[in-house]
Amino acid sequence: MADSRETLTKTAFVTGYPIKHSRSPLIHRHWLERFGIVGSYQALEVAPDDFGAFIAELKSGNGFVGGNVTIPHKESAYRLADRPDEIAQELGAVNTVWLENGVLHASNTDGFGFISNLDASHPGWDKTSRAVVLGAGGASRAVIQALRDRGISEIHVVNRTVERAKELRDRFGAQVYAHALQALDEVSTGAGFFVNTTSLGMEGGEVPDIDFSRLCSGAVVTDIVYVPLKTPILKMAERQGYTTVDGLGMLLHQARPGFEKWFGQKPTVDDTLRSLIIADM
Ligand code: ATR
Repeated sequence: MADSRETLTKTAFVTGYPIKHSRSPLIHRHWLERFGIVGSYQALEVAPDDFGAFIAELKSGNGFVGGNVTIPHKESAYRLADRPDEIAQELGAVNTVWLENGVLHASNTDGFGFISNLDASHPGWDKTSRAVVLGAGGASRAVIQALRDRGISEIHVVNRTVERAKELRDRFGAQVYAHALQALDEVSTGAGFFVNTTSLGMEGGEVPDIDFSRLCSGAVVTDIVYVPLKTPILKMAERQGYTTVDGLGMLLHQARPGFEKWFGQKPTVDDTLRSLIIADM
């Protein structure tokens, strides 16, 4: 007799507060359809005060196989997970959770998404020893960890509030250097990789001029902001003759490990998926 559990619809979620702007449902529903999986992916708005109860219900078996967690729940989800993996423990924040035999596992796939996007868009981007990271917030942490794990030997974090850059240097150790914004030109000299992790330029906001000419020739410039797709920072870098990689791919690639955990298939990022998200922007 067939195991009735095999025929149950698997359901995953994305939760945040607010959640209505999340593109994750579009991504995962595209992959569910692509694989012909009888499953669903739901956006759930959960207020911070209700998040503990939400996780308790999830662990007690409310039908979800796991999900994505976004702002403002990433740190709470890390604290409430039973088994955060090594990456999650280093960052203290997670974006992906999944249940295995009633145990809640958790990881942070932002760094995986960041690196996979670069590898897919511009193989060889990592053939440099010196990288510049603009910004020192939550997103910057995942990026620095990923660059360090990739073996970039000098990671220069430049931030408006230099104390936050110093905190990251203290957290990540030897390969990471902290600088104030005024040092941007100086530390860019000879770098082969530049990433913006700040909200500068998001939704059309003002961005100060950046002189990329100190980067080495062939340097790659990327931005984790993806609305607009061509951010002011990417446009500036292109005008100055540098290769750029936009941030949309990071969003798409960070979704891959979760889908595989919940639904058991390895999804890929292709132009159809990219177009689907761009059409929704
Ligand atoms: P996230 O979790 O998305 O990274 P965050 O923790 O609020 O968000 O960090 C935002 C980053 O953008 C910080 O590096 C912030 O600089 P400060 O640490 O000095 O606040 C940076 N940022 C935001 N607006 C900026 C601006 N107008 N000029 C320069 N940096 C800015």
